[in-house]
Amino acid sequence: MRFTAAALLAVAASLHSVNAANADEWRSRSIYQLLTDRFAPPSADAPARTNPVPETCDPVAQTWCGGTWLSIIDKLDYLQGMGIDAIWISPVHQNIDVHTPYNYAYHGYWVNDVTKLNARFGSEEDLVTLITELHKRNMYIMIDIAINSIPTLNQNDSLSSESLAADNSMWTDPAYFHKQCWIDYSNQTSCEYCWFGDANLPLMDVNTENPYVISTLNSFIKDFVTKYNIDGLRLDAGKHIPGQFWSGFTQSAGVFTTGEVYDGSWQFTSSYQNQGWMDSVLGFPMNGAISKAFSIKPKNSNMTDFGVAVGQALSSYNNPRVIGNFLENHDMARFRNITADPVLAYNAMVAQFMIEGIPVTYYGQEQDLANGHDDPYNRAALWPTNYENGTTYQRIARLNLIRKQLITSGLQFNGKSYMDDNSTAIGVTQNDIAFRKGPIIYTLNNRGSPEENTSFGINATGWPSQTALIDLLSCQQYITGAGGSLSISYAQPGYGGLPYIFATAGDAKALGICVKATQVGVLAPNSTSAALPSSPMSVGLMGAAALLTASLF
Ligand SMILES: *[C@@H]1O[C@H](CO)[C@@H](O)[C@H](O)[C@H]1NC(C)=O
Ligand SMILES: *[C@@H]1O[C@H](CO)[C@@H](O)[C@H](O)[C@H]1NC(C)=O
Ligand SMILES: *[C@@H]1O[C@H](CO)[C@@H](O)[C@H](O)[C@H]1NC(C)=O
Ligand SMILES: *[C@@H]1O[C@H](CO)[C@@H](O)[C@H](O)[C@H]1NC(C)=O
Ligand SMILES: *[C@@H]1O[C@H](CO)[C@@H](O)[C@H](O)[C@H]1NC(C)=O
Ligand SMILES: *[C@@H]1O[C@H](CO)[C@@H](O)[C@H](O)[C@H]1NC(C)=O
Ligand SMILES: *[C@@H]1O[C@H](CO)[C@@H](O)[C@H](O)[C@H]1NC(C)=O
Ligand SMILES: *[C@@H]1O[C@H](CO)[C@@H](O)[C@H](O)[C@H]1NC(C)=O
Ligand SMILES: *[C@@H]1O[C@H](CO)[C@@H](O)[C@H](O)[C@H]1NC(C)=O
Repeated sequence: MRFTAAALLAVAASLHSVNAANADEWRSRSIYQLLTDRFAPPSADAPARTNPVPETCDPVAQTWCGGTWLSIIDKLDYLQGMGIDAIWISPVHQNIDVHTPYNYAYHGYWVNDVTKLNARFGSEEDLVTLITELHKRNMYIMIDIAINSIPTLNQNDSLSSESLAADNSMWTDPAYFHKQCWIDYSNQTSCEYCWFGDANLPLMDVNTENPYVISTLNSFIKDFVTKYNIDGLRLDAGKHIPGQFWSGFTQSAGVFTTGEVYDGSWQFTSSYQNQGWMDSVLGFPMNGAISKAFSIKPKNSNMTDFGVAVGQALSSYNNPRVIGNFLENHDMARFRNITADPVLAYNAMVAQFMIEGIPVTYYGQEQDLANGHDDPYNRAALWPTNYENGTTYQRIARLNLIRKQLITSGLQFNGKSYMDDNSTAIGVTQNDIAFRKGPIIYTLNNRGSPEENTSFGINATGWPSQTALIDLLSCQQYITGAGGSLSISYAQPGYGGLPYIFATAGDAKALGICVKATQVGVLAPNSTSAALPSSPMSVGLMGAAALLTASLF
């Protein structure tokens, strides 16, 4: 058992040593989203709270599989090994704990009282122990906050005081809820005032204009953030609560907030940040653009379109650098369910980590979980993967390292650093795009694994001709051609449509990336403008990744 009096003292000390984090402190972070029940199994150190824990975790059964706040601690080395320095965990507050027509609240989103923690996942002490451990490792904690609605099984008379008292202990007056109506998703007023769920399991919409509700929730969040030393909040159902409410709530919280504004419109989603309702939103429009650009055999995939989307993000959000960039989440298809090709998925990940914003990796993305076109299939237990150090895990580690080093080094190109510069397309075709962002150029394409006898030319990289470049992903060297041009060949067997992140050899050295490769001389012969990998040394799809891990860590 981890929790001891000594731990409590450590907690008390840490409460004073770590400050709540703001948007500026979050923007260089890399977030990992996890469902507490599914991320890590019970262990000797982290005993199960749910009895019995199923032999195998079948997501379709929609019941608890045994993960807890303490079991998360068992896998923090695994997360840090991938360069993750913040976790967003599913809601921690009390849920309805009965069987429903949609089975059980294993996901934690059926909160019926935010004044209590969810005993399925642990005690107050357990949550404190987790957060203390995170802070010891200089990792941030982001808690998912679900306050929009209260589930009820009393569908017909749900708004009587008696049935409200049976449903929850917070909101027992019918005035604390909006009148019943089902949401019409095409109507934003309806999204804010009507109810989630259906007749089988109505989710009563909390009246967030009621003064008592407002003051109760505002003091709740202030106390909660302070008591547990929370670094950030993810606001569930962001678009289902009017913005005015969020303004007061996020101010009371006093830490970084990012909202779930599940909507494809740049203008609409960015308004939540631009109006000051919350610091950030999860980038649903960019998620759509990435999915479209890097889907398998993409009918509509068009890199020019993707370039437009990157520009839209920059021009729509007041602060694009804190928008959450994700490929998948607990409500949508696993990226690998829609894109089986690992090279396309690699391109999508380079986009996720290199464009403006905070990368948000949904648990299992690093293990290529593909089963899941949506809920509940996309919520499988992670433990059957054995938390392997596989290709995708290593690619994420690599991308986190590149991003972190670019940010902390402050290296500049033409006076602009990676963090300050805006991704600018410097070459684009329907299949390829190259962006300049501070000291790097990153290139993406929608070609996939098979090699193609074709190439992608960038006329002017901004670097002089005969500049030695390193691809920070593979540690291969390239030389710019006339006028600083670069040509990426897709003809190399085993390479096909890989993405690239170029920096000058000098900058790569300053970043401490690919240093070993340089030292041992795994360099390309001067290859003029033809940006072919130096030697056909690695065969097979994962050749570049193998080289990467051999030379970097
Ligand atoms: C994963 O494997 C690579 C290659 O063997 C190694 O360099 C790296 O340290 C490993 N990562 C972890 C977290 O063990
Ligand atoms: C609720 O009302 C509907 C129709 O008015 C009825 O069919 C249903 O059985 C009622 N449900 C409960 C739980 O009383
Ligand atoms: C939108 O929803 C609100 C709340 O239910 C309703 O009052 C309004 O009439 C709806 N507007 C339209 C155009 O349907
Ligand atoms: C690609 O997208 C751009 C920008 O949206 C558009 O102008 C162009 O027509 C598209 N190309 C094709 C082949 O669809
Ligand atoms: C996608 O997920 C569904 C289940 O949700 C599964 O049946 C299907 O096999 C998956 N597809 C891939 C390519 O993994
Ligand atoms: C990035 O783009 C934004 C919005 O278009 C602009 O305000 C800002 O000055 C740009 N930054 C740089 C370094 O060019
Ligand atoms: C590749 O394409 C070029 C011109 O497009 C052609 O001359 C050459 O023969 C092709 N090579 C192969 C191996 O097909
Ligand atoms: C790149 O250079 C080639 C050859 O000089 C020229 O045909 C092409 O238009 C240039 N492309 C761009 C985008 O400048
Ligand atoms: C490669 O380039 C370097 C520096 O540009 C030059 O000194 C060297 O002679 C070149 N080597 C060959 C084989 O061309």
